[in-house]
Amino acid sequence: MASAPGKVILFGEHAVVYGEPAIAAAIRRRVYVSVEEIATDRIEIESRNLKIRESMRLEKCTRGELEGVSAELKPLWHLCHKMLELHGHPLKHGLRVEIRSEIPESAGLGSSAALATALALALKEIFSVDMSPNDIWNIAFESEKIVHGRPSGIDNTLSLHGGVILYRKGSMKRIRLGQTIPLVVGDTGVSRSTGKMVARVRMLREKYPDVIEEVIRAIGRLSLLSVQALVDGDLEKLGDLMNINQGLLEALGVSSPEISMLVNAARKAGALGAKLTGAGGGGCIIALPAKNAINNVVESIKRVGRDAFLAEIEFEGARIESGGAHG
Ligand code: PMV
Repeated sequence: MASAPGKVILFGEHAVVYGEPAIAAAIRRRVYVSVEEIATDRIEIESRNLKIRESMRLEKCTRGELEGVSAELKPLWHLCHKMLELHGHPLKHGLRVEIRSEIPESAGLGSSAALATALALALKEIFSVDMSPNDIWNIAFESEKIVHGRPSGIDNTLSLHGGVILYRKGSMKRIRLGQTIPLVVGDTGVSRSTGKMVARVRMLREKYPDVIEEVIRAIGRLSLLSVQALVDGDLEKLGDLMNINQGLLEALGVSSPEISMLVNAARKAGALGAKLTGAGGGGCIIALPAKNAINNVVESIKRVGRDAFLAEIEFEGARIESGGAHG
């Protein structure tokens, strides 16, 4: 069994697609993938959360004949196909893949990247093949492309490495926090597609290039400014930067009435800053409560959204779970 964490983007979503820096943190909510050999010539994939179960002949998957699979599991079938194509078929029998997730789907918390990363790691183990972290990254990224079109790679970088990262397409740098930051995640309950939101920004940028490029650049500046605030543990400054970032995301057209409602509730309840996280259009927000306002912020967001929870930052990335705890 392997697992990988989800993430929140603290600063820089959308701008990161255009080469600007973004800051993201892995959170202590994971996807667990268990794989075992079964005495058939098939691969079975079951997602407990999505309540989907599919099965395919090994040979068919090896050849990449993936027509007929569900849109939800397609990235995983593709990943299995890639592994079989790259490494041959090292097993005598078929495989059963079982998925259990603590991360809500389509909410901007990186569940698809965590799933792809955990599956790649679990298959590497059961195939007993040599794969570097970079190989795992690449194969998870291929799977992310099926979900999101042209992702920046930030999600699978966080799932693989954990911690807090300054990410720019093609490079990453770890950030050491001056103090823990109490992040509250609020879920609007509205699902959305990252691909569609990214396309919306692209269209706006084509229509008004001068203005939108300035907004994108300003978001990149916020990411860079936040690095020192994170290192210093300057919560007030982080809150200010989050609020400015939310304003710029609104200018890009990726906020929504539900997001605004949760952001306002959080600020009223004592958050120093609040913004959407991920692609927007629905999904989740993050809020940075003042130390004495954590419960108040969580409860206030819950009253207007689907859920809210205090998200601890996860410093460990993808890992093999010892003992095969099939929970
Ligand atoms: O909502 P999520 O977790 O898929 O995050 C999307 C982040 C974007 O910057 C909007 C897209 C990307 O590929 O980085």
